[in-house]
Amino acid sequence: MKRVLSGVQPTGDIHVGNYVGAMMHFVELQEEHECYFCIVDLHALTVPQDPVELRNKTYELAGIYLAIGLDPQKSTLFVQSQVSAHAELAWLLSCIAYYGELSRMTQFKDKSKGKENVSVGLFTYPALMAADILLYQANYVPVGNDQKQHLELTRDLAERFNNRFGETFVVPEPLIAEVGARIMSLTDPTKKMSKSDEDENGRINLLDSPDVVKKKIMRATTDSESVIRYDVENKPGLSNLLSLYSVMSGMSITDIEKKYEGSGYGTLKKDLVDVVNERLRVIQEKYYGLSREELERILREGRERAEVLAAKTLKDVKEKMGLAMF
Ligand code: AQP
Repeated sequence: MKRVLSGVQPTGDIHVGNYVGAMMHFVELQEEHECYFCIVDLHALTVPQDPVELRNKTYELAGIYLAIGLDPQKSTLFVQSQVSAHAELAWLLSCIAYYGELSRMTQFKDKSKGKENVSVGLFTYPALMAADILLYQANYVPVGNDQKQHLELTRDLAERFNNRFGETFVVPEPLIAEVGARIMSLTDPTKKMSKSDEDENGRINLLDSPDVVKKKIMRATTDSESVIRYDVENKPGLSNLLSLYSVMSGMSITDIEKKYEGSGYGTLKKDLVDVVNERLRVIQEKYYGLSREELERILREGRERAEVLAAKTLKDVKEKMGLAMF
């Protein structure tokens, strides 16, 4: 069975962009792959976090993992910081990563722009992400489009290590969805929907109430025309809604265009509200029925399984790099 690994940061509110871009695919992949999904809390620390909030968000994300349909019998779910091999391998990889290649990462440029004090961790974030993936010898990494560049770096580091020290890592491939890999902000369709966006109306959170979802979608920025046509360049707002509709309903964009031929944007938006709310209703029902004890048990068991695999890779890497082993 091919192995899959991915992670989500326990920061802010998990939104439909995270869901359709990555998390929804985790659920499909667990049926035919050996899956590892982590809550990447060490990545969250690259920007300032409130400690109480971070811990609460970790539980919240664990609950969301289960509520969207991840099954702990099929997928290993764990918290990144609980498997210390992630931080260790990140250091070893950061010693073969080049300053120049990390400087080219657009996420670092975006997140550090205009900030006076930027952590070193934010700069070396891609080495930690590479460690997350390479530790488990993952074949596939389902991610949204924004992580593509980090995945390319992970592949470069794996190949560099293998060339320098001998065959060690599986070189992973990204799995990026054709539709929904980059859901845009509802209020500004030129930028991606993001947890850290200060504009709360730009994103639909998985735990938003039906009324809030309705308000956000009905107010979503479109354009002054009324023709329903997928055209990212000239109709970015409408195209974003069509992508969301498509992934959430399973209908192709062409079929949606046909269905709404001659209808106005209002009709499309109203139906999209129903499609999104129905999906969120199922997720929320499950989410609110989970207990903290259950979440802790699942994460503890997940950590134990993850540790076995991670320790094996780390030992191999240390041996190959010439670190003392006794
Ligand atoms: N807008 C998006 N459309 C599609 N996929 C997305 N992802 C994020 N935003 C979109 C994918 O969701 C997964 C988890 O994301 P993350 O927690 O690792 O952080 P991120 O990529 O930095 O996402 P955010 O929501 O924008 O968080 P902040 O604001 O904290 O940076 C990833 O696979 C990501 O590609």
